[in-house]
Amino acid sequence: MDLATMTAQLERLRADALAAVAAAADPAGLDAVQLEFLGRKGALTEVLRGIGGLPAEDRPRVGAVANDVREVVEAAIAAHGVDLRGAAMAARLAAEAVDVTTPGRRIARGTRHPVAETIAAIDEVFGRFGFVVFEGPEIEDDVTNFQMLNIPSDHPARDLWDTLYVDIPDHLLRTHTSPGQIRVMRETRPPIRALLPGRCFRYEAVDASHGFEFHQVEGLMVDEGTSLADLRGLLDEFAHALFGAGRATRFRPGYYPFTEPSVAFDVGCVVCDGVGCPACGRSGWMTILGAGMVHPVVLRNGGIDPETYQGFAFGMGVERIAMLRHGIHDLRLFMEGDLRFLGQFR
Ligand code: DAH
Repeated sequence: MDLATMTAQLERLRADALAAVAAAADPAGLDAVQLEFLGRKGALTEVLRGIGGLPAEDRPRVGAVANDVREVVEAAIAAHGVDLRGAAMAARLAAEAVDVTTPGRRIARGTRHPVAETIAAIDEVFGRFGFVVFEGPEIEDDVTNFQMLNIPSDHPARDLWDTLYVDIPDHLLRTHTSPGQIRVMRETRPPIRALLPGRCFRYEAVDASHGFEFHQVEGLMVDEGTSLADLRGLLDEFAHALFGAGRATRFRPGYYPFTEPSVAFDVGCVVCDGVGCPACGRSGWMTILGAGMVHPVVLRNGGIDPETYQGFAFGMGVERIAMLRHGIHDLRLFMEGDLRFLGQFR
């Protein structure tokens, strides 16, 4: 082996390696070229084995050529690698391209159910007067739904509430939110200002103004010296907030076993403004809730001494209020889930 031969071998190796680098089609192919020519058992190592057979003064010159070959090939591998990765990225970007000018898919936006919206409006008005929302169970016991509210088992007043019973002895689907009064009185101490919204159930033939499932909001205030005048003032504020500042209001005598005295609270007809029309039975008035001073027996059942404390309570049907606010004529619409109806309360 002499200097000229070895130099020629190295020149050829450089040419072969550069050709192989140029031909590599992907990063894996390039790795293979690197291994084949520059690897520990590669072609360059192979050629340099012969260096031991050269005269001592020729060895550095061959070494210099070999280093030059390694550098040139490494540089070519690095440069082509950049090209290949760039091409791969470009191909991927093209394949995964997103057309940002395509119109988006519209997200269907829900609306608040008119019953929920009306409960929120009622909460808001009474909230201004310090009333706090509580919730009682929909499956209630007979004692709390009736007996604690001064309605004994055999009392004819039970006929006012057509009841749906459940499989649990002495339990039923609450017929009104009034049992919540008992629960609040037992859980808290006066002064009490509680609002109890919730779903109620009655064994009822369904028509445009009756449902077997509906909502009520109950109110309860208990404090020293609470009077019927306080109730009247509060309900006036409520009626004016929901039905307009100039709306006429009145109390009529009513009957509920858990209040004494009991009243019906009327507002001037929201359709004819008091003139008299079919919607108000030509009376000019519409009843929106029942109310009264909490019966001493009920206060005592709630653990409150009626000699010290007085209270008032009221209960209203949410669907009825929502119908008056929005001019809805059929109560069944609230439970049907028809989006054409519900979408109107946006
Ligand atoms: N619970 C009654 C009903 O369902 C409504 C009611 C009337 C509630 C008078 C009251 C009240 O708190 O004082 O018909």
